[in-house]
Amino acid sequence: MSIHRLAVFAATAVLGFSAQAQDSGQLNVICSVQAEWCNMIQTVFAKSTGIKINMSLKGSGEALAQLIAEKANPKTDVWFGGTGDPHLQAAELGLTLEYKSPALPQLFPWAQQQAAQSDYRTVGIYSGPLGFGYNPELLAKKKMDVPKSWADLLKTEYKGDIQVANPASSGTAYTMVATLVQLMGEDKAFEYMKGLHKNISQYTRSGTAPIKAVARGETAVSISFVHDGPGEKMQGFPVETITPAEGTGAEIGSMSIIKGARNLPQAKIFYEWALTPQAQQFGAAARQFQLPSNKATPVDPRVPDFKKIKLIDYDYAKYGASAERKRLIAKWEKDVNSLPR
Ligand code: G6P
Repeated sequence: MSIHRLAVFAATAVLGFSAQAQDSGQLNVICSVQAEWCNMIQTVFAKSTGIKINMSLKGSGEALAQLIAEKANPKTDVWFGGTGDPHLQAAELGLTLEYKSPALPQLFPWAQQQAAQSDYRTVGIYSGPLGFGYNPELLAKKKMDVPKSWADLLKTEYKGDIQVANPASSGTAYTMVATLVQLMGEDKAFEYMKGLHKNISQYTRSGTAPIKAVARGETAVSISFVHDGPGEKMQGFPVETITPAEGTGAEIGSMSIIKGARNLPQAKIFYEWALTPQAQQFGAAARQFQLPSNKATPVDPRVPDFKKIKLIDYDYAKYGASAERKRLIAKWEKDVNSLPR
């Protein structure tokens, strides 16, 4: 049995639904994890519940922009995945519905905290640390060292060989901006990002594009979530990850029900399902290795070991606040992105 078929079988068995479930309506989901996981969810959920998912794939910042645009007439029911800061911003803007899942006590404290600080308008579904991806073969060929710290990325040897996403569209890149501000203080962080800008070849739209470029030998280094490394490696690409010596931030990947959802009963069924250990295993089955939020979800050995990483005490409430996120992104556009390279 293929992993995919096995996953479908497991989900149907656990949820007690018939594999030939009746037509039970539909659900509009914005999915901000990688396509393979989104597609797997779509298939398994439809097979096990009879609810058809209309799936739209969008980066975290783009997803938030769409929800703001459709506020008066929401077309989305659930926003699944993506970094937690824009989910908190959506909660503050009144775009998401207050909903307290009975499964909350089964979740790690960081996931429950994400729910509590949004007045239960979002919830943590996974977590993962920010770091660097690098291509050891390309580094060796170019006689460059593995970057071990944020400071290393400023070295001229990396000029034109570092990629990161644009923080306006990508939650990964916003996590970088917020992490650096917390690590260095705002003035120094912006000076740092101006220096880094000189070495950046491209700011991509999607947060995962840079590590895919590293894997494919198009650039030597990326600033990425380290849990996005093993999936590329499993496809046979030469890619490794490292977390910076000075310390780094982690995301709390989140899920929210949209206020005014047209398919609310289906949205709640999906939400509960997505918090089960069975459903949370589809991340690793789709080669995505975040730490799942349900304490009972088996943890794949490729999930980064948080205990070995120097993590900052990321202030999710502050950096997920609407005014702060908007201000920092605008400042990055004006003070960093507009500079010549
Ligand atoms: C990848 C990561 C997720 C993260 C997402 C953010 O899918 O595996 O953990 O939440 O990127 O995407 P974005 O394009 O918003 O940076």
